[in-house]
Amino acid sequence: MLQLDKVCVSFRSERQDKIFGHTRQQVLFDVSLKVKKGTCLGILGESGSGKSTMGRVICGLLKPDTGEVMIDGTSVYASRKGRKELQNKLSVVFQDYTTSANPRFRVSDVIKEGLFVRQRREKEKLQYEKEIKKLLELVGLSEDFADRFPHELSGGQLQRVCIARAVSCNPQIVLFDEAISSLDAHTQVQIMDLLLELKEKLQLTYIFITHDLTSITYLCDDVLFLYQGHVTEYLPVDKISQTKDQYARKLLESIIVFDTEEAKTV
Ligand SMILES: Nc1ncnc2c1ncn2[C@@H]1O[C@H](COP(=O)(O)OP(=O)(O)OP(=O)(O)O)[C@@H](O)[C@H]1O
Ligand SMILES: [Mg+2]
Repeated sequence: MLQLDKVCVSFRSERQDKIFGHTRQQVLFDVSLKVKKGTCLGILGESGSGKSTMGRVICGLLKPDTGEVMIDGTSVYASRKGRKELQNKLSVVFQDYTTSANPRFRVSDVIKEGLFVRQRREKEKLQYEKEIKKLLELVGLSEDFADRFPHELSGGQLQRVCIARAVSCNPQIVLFDEAISSLDAHTQVQIMDLLLELKEKLQLTYIFITHDLTSITYLCDDVLFLYQGHVTEYLPVDKISQTKDQYARKLLESIIVFDTEEAKTV
């Protein structure tokens, strides 16, 4: 469904070289991946490893220096058609739900943003109120939330609203960039359960960017480890304990200790 082929990205670095002008700092090195329909790919890496940069390349916001991004066989950056395909099929949820929802918008208006996109694309007249009610219900919120402002919601509730907005335009793929990272552990599990439920119900494909291995094992089918812009490991989640990659092993060890600690306290 979605494919990255040897994607390289670099940014102009701040440092200026006296002779050659600006130097460039490479952030992604030959990143390749394939996301199959109906699966969830987890992208895992520490801060600064290039996860969000990869996310921006995937959602069509950042053209790579070299390499290809393909959606259903069409190149995203080589043609207008590819970009259009991507816009129609992909939706995004970011970490910072407080800024990704306009504070002056009511919840209904936040969700309407996505519905407008769908209306324009499908050229059908939508009954907004009915759709909003349906979407709120879908993400586990009652219809009274429609008239509230973002500051009147908890972090978890607001992230549910952002998820409702993301799915309101009927996407096929949803990209989450640290979408649950700033929520507490209990709320994280609730949102992950919601994501699993939506994935089934709406037959979605997910790309889930995080620095947290536990959520990957909970949600994903495949996992890609990113370390300083390099893919160091890319394998099915159920094979994760067989990894030979140093970085992946280090992360796994930390999680295994964490799990037993938790088991003791429960
Ligand atoms: N627009 C930009 N211009 C210059 N450098 C950038 C730009 N965007 C990102 N970078 C650099 O690219 C590197 C990777 O950043 P990126 O945001 O992709 O990391 P990340 O893995 O998402 O980190 P985090 O987990 O903290 O969100 C960083 O060194 C960052 O400084
Ligand atoms: Mg990031």
